[in-house]
Amino acid sequence: MAAITDLVDELREKLRGASQGGGAKFRARHAERGKMLVRERIEMIVDPQTAFLELSPLAAHGLYGGEVPSAGIVTGIGMIHERPCMLIANDATTKGGSFFAETVRKHSRAQEIAEQHRLPCIYLVDCGGAFLPEQDRVFPDKDHFGGGFWRQCQMSAAGIPQISVVFGGCTAGGAYIPALSDQVIMVKGTGRIHLGGPPIVKAAINEIVDGETLGGAEMHTQVSGVSDHIAPDEESALQKLREIIANLGDNRKVSSPKQVGKPPLALHGETQDHAPVDLKRPIDMRALIKTLVDGSEFSEFKPDYGKSLITGFAQIHGYPVGILANDGALFSESSVKGAHFIELCDQRQIPLVFLQNITGFMVGTEAERGGIAKHSAKLVYAVSNARVPKYTILVGGSYGAGNYGMCGRGFRPRFLFSWPNARIATMSPDVAATVVTDLRRASIKSPATEEEIQELDSRTRAQFEEQSDPYYATARLWDDGIIEPNQTRDVLGLCIALAAGEEQDTGPRPVYRM
Ligand code: COA
Repeated sequence: MAAITDLVDELREKLRGASQGGGAKFRARHAERGKMLVRERIEMIVDPQTAFLELSPLAAHGLYGGEVPSAGIVTGIGMIHERPCMLIANDATTKGGSFFAETVRKHSRAQEIAEQHRLPCIYLVDCGGAFLPEQDRVFPDKDHFGGGFWRQCQMSAAGIPQISVVFGGCTAGGAYIPALSDQVIMVKGTGRIHLGGPPIVKAAINEIVDGETLGGAEMHTQVSGVSDHIAPDEESALQKLREIIANLGDNRKVSSPKQVGKPPLALHGETQDHAPVDLKRPIDMRALIKTLVDGSEFSEFKPDYGKSLITGFAQIHGYPVGILANDGALFSESSVKGAHFIELCDQRQIPLVFLQNITGFMVGTEAERGGIAKHSAKLVYAVSNARVPKYTILVGGSYGAGNYGMCGRGFRPRFLFSWPNARIATMSPDVAATVVTDLRRASIKSPATEEEIQELDSRTRAQFEEQSDPYYATARLWDDGIIEPNQTRDVLGLCIALAAGEEQDTGPRPVYRM
């Protein structure tokens, strides 16, 4: 069993690899053209000494033969003139910044977060449109490329600024990102916008034209008016962008907490000391919570009832939170306790933090006779209808309907992050192998030989091992990224702060005692 420190080292190594983009050859060509790398651009626009919360840096990890690190796009939240902004930046060293299915998902997810938190969207565009061999997974459906443009228009109309800086050749979908922005800056010499690039123009109307004439920065700023500003180089373009953000008018800043949060007490150790690496062994969840909350102060709710779910009030970086954390399988009592606690937090307008380490709801005759189906449903119902912001961290296992009751992705947490030791699947490999082989034995199709059952058993185990791996999950955008356990408190603090100033729904919020 790997130690958590080894898993954290592995995560850092994978992140370092992803940050290299399309590899040395493409980075060198990029630099020769006088272009900055995507993360250098971001570093230059965010306020000095402030954190940039990168989202899903390992999207598309292990897919497409490893040729599309970070899915060819960097997204994340950074401060510009003390205002939190969503940055959505193509990496042109990766297949010309073109869009794969995971690129589309990452782009849309960043927009979704921006829309929810009213964050200005800054598009650093360097994008060849849809990656053509994958066009059927990228172009036609509701949540494909077109959905991103729809969101852009919706956000702009709702007063959420959409600003683009164009650094490279932007064709087709790549051209629409700036074309649909409220304000556009283009870099002279390298920035280009054309609905169809020179090869498309030649194929469509047999016109032969070079890219600069067709869609260069000078033409678009002085002739077509597609661009509002021309910058002599990337640095000036980024300075101009900061100037635009400074003048947005509604200078909404992050709402500060009433008091600065006290750090957790050192005696409880580091958060990662409590990470459940062996998911078969219980962990001290209360000790883990104490490493996350201000002053390690955790005011527990109903500690003597439904003990497999720990619930209680605390503060993180000065913001009040209600925490729900698993301590074993969810029984009827723990489910109704969770539902009651969620209602209390909703009534008091306290955001919810879910720490998932869950095998699922209890099964068996006793549990069914006790009404686990309806009691677990109460928890799922309360999670679904809570109006306060919700945040989920997969600190260990996330299996079965336990994922639902504890605010998995389907239940719209504002953010969901995983730890490198996490696992996510309908069930564990052991249980899955038993279920699948039993189904095969009972099949009326044809009798199964013992050899076939053995083969099915190992195939199912291998499938569930592979698919419950956190890197498999993060590659497919099932979370907002894998974070180091020790980063959890700060990441949560930042995410909670983004929603802290929101106007609250003042409708009735009943608390039904369960
Ligand atoms: N679909 C498929 N592959 C694409 C692509 C796209 N839209 N855009 C770029 N690529 C690939 C290139 O084939 C090349 O692949 P390789 O690594 O296997 O050689 C790689 O991405 C880099 O492209 P390259 O042209 O060398 O980079 P560049 O920086 O010189 O130019 C673009 C970037 C985006 C301007 C240029 O690639 C381009 O014009 N692409 C086509 C754009 C287009 O017509 N899109 C229509 C989409 S609907």
